[in-house]
Amino acid sequence: MANVIVIGAQWGDEGKGKITDLLSRSADVVVRSQGGVNAGHTVVVQGQTFKLHLIPSGILYPNTDCIIGSGTVIDPQVLLQEIEQLKALGVSVDKLFISQTAHVTMPYHRMIDRAAEERRGEYKIGTTGRGIGPTYADKSERTGIRVLDLMDVEHLRKQLEWTINYKNVILEKIYNLPSLDPNTVITEYLEYAEQLRPFVIDSALKIYEAVRERKNILFEGAQGTLLDLDHGTYPYVTSSNPIAGGACVGAGVGPTMIDRVIGVAKAYTTRVGEGPFPTESTGEVGKLLCDRGAEFGTTTGRRRRCGWFDAVIGRYAVRINGIDCLAITKLDVLDELEEIKVCVAYQIDGQIRHHFPTNASHFAHCEPMYKTLPGWQQSISHCRSLEDLPKQALDYLKFLAELMEVPIAIVSVGPSRDQTIIVEDPIHGPKRALLDADGTPVTIT
Ligand code: GDP
Ligand code: IMO
Ligand code: MG
Repeated sequence: MANVIVIGAQWGDEGKGKITDLLSRSADVVVRSQGGVNAGHTVVVQGQTFKLHLIPSGILYPNTDCIIGSGTVIDPQVLLQEIEQLKALGVSVDKLFISQTAHVTMPYHRMIDRAAEERRGEYKIGTTGRGIGPTYADKSERTGIRVLDLMDVEHLRKQLEWTINYKNVILEKIYNLPSLDPNTVITEYLEYAEQLRPFVIDSALKIYEAVRERKNILFEGAQGTLLDLDHGTYPYVTSSNPIAGGACVGAGVGPTMIDRVIGVAKAYTTRVGEGPFPTESTGEVGKLLCDRGAEFGTTTGRRRRCGWFDAVIGRYAVRINGIDCLAITKLDVLDELEEIKVCVAYQIDGQIRHHFPTNASHFAHCEPMYKTLPGWQQSISHCRSLEDLPKQALDYLKFLAELMEVPIAIVSVGPSRDQTIIVEDPIHGPKRALLDADGTPVTIT
């Protein structure tokens, strides 16, 4: 039995969807704990592509319970569309469950998100415009609408009348936007409520029961470590906690119930939206990574910024999340390169720094220090074991494992479920120590 958290170790889009789907084969329950429809997780199986925003990436397995947990924010319109799209592709949603205490994204959240971004001008965050920040802001302010509010018709009417009148003042007076008609919104959301009602449960209780029955539970992170509200590159972050600790809070499980944390990282780095990105390449390398990696946002279609692997943020992700093994994805994207660079440290005001600087202004002007490794210049998409990989690719992986000080459990060499090398099964395999007995980091062999 193992309860495993899968988290993004960079700025999101690391391939969490692919890795979660892969591991879901051994999972009884898959839980999304935070984030909302800002997430876009891609799963490719036998040539068919599934893009998931809120529904856990375990949904393709008919016997796996998929839970949208309490710490998520739910846009009912998008969720219902996602359910319909899956059904149309022949995927059952009979085992989908929605937490009654998750918060609900309302039309005014989307409007305020977009209008606030416009107002920020050059200080904009580059949000997905899906109303995520304002929904979490209402949760913190304690004016949010929860799924259980949607389920109580009379209560919802009263709550929405008050809230929409309050939000209308903000829409009109601050953002110069048209006000919303409470009755129209109430009618729309009552309709959503009826459609969602069969899925709604006490999710923390269901997860606890699964723990008691010693089932395998996977916690699927959304976004990534550097987008974490508390530990990311604030203010260029999302409004939830994508780090491993966030999975416990969002799902409502205690930390003692977690056996393992898997960090998913691309073999290079990408970022969508604004904010500092030390290893970003705006030249040829960035273009090659973007083209070969098809680096366009799953949710917004925006071009992702690309650059070399950054081991400083990698080590930071290992530390902040307690990662015990890594899944390295998109190694095949580097196939053509003659040389591959890895950022091993930063130079800040003439000083060499091996640790992520939490001071945002230091991070914004740090200079990456690179180590250059030879490329393999051949296709690796067909490789299914470490022995199949060219020596240079294996050396590259070993170098990453040594820098990050954790073993690599999975290597992904293409978008499909089968284009994967499993070095060690993170669910059934033995949990390895972070460091060998003599204190040296464990690396892949
Ligand atoms: P997530 O948000 O972390 O689930 O990642 P996304 O799905 O947004 O972005 C990852 C993209 O890379 C998707 O288009 C995947 O199909 C694709 N992908 C995942 N793993 C690999 C891989 O090993 N190689 C290649 N070429 N593409 C991959
Ligand atoms: P997945 O789960 C990559 C980024 C946005 C923006 C910032 C804030 O697919 O990895 P928000 O709409 O959350 O207020 O935007 O966070 N962002 C993501 N970037 N992958 C994601 O999700 C993201 N979700 C949000 O681009 O910079
Ligand atoms: Mg994504």
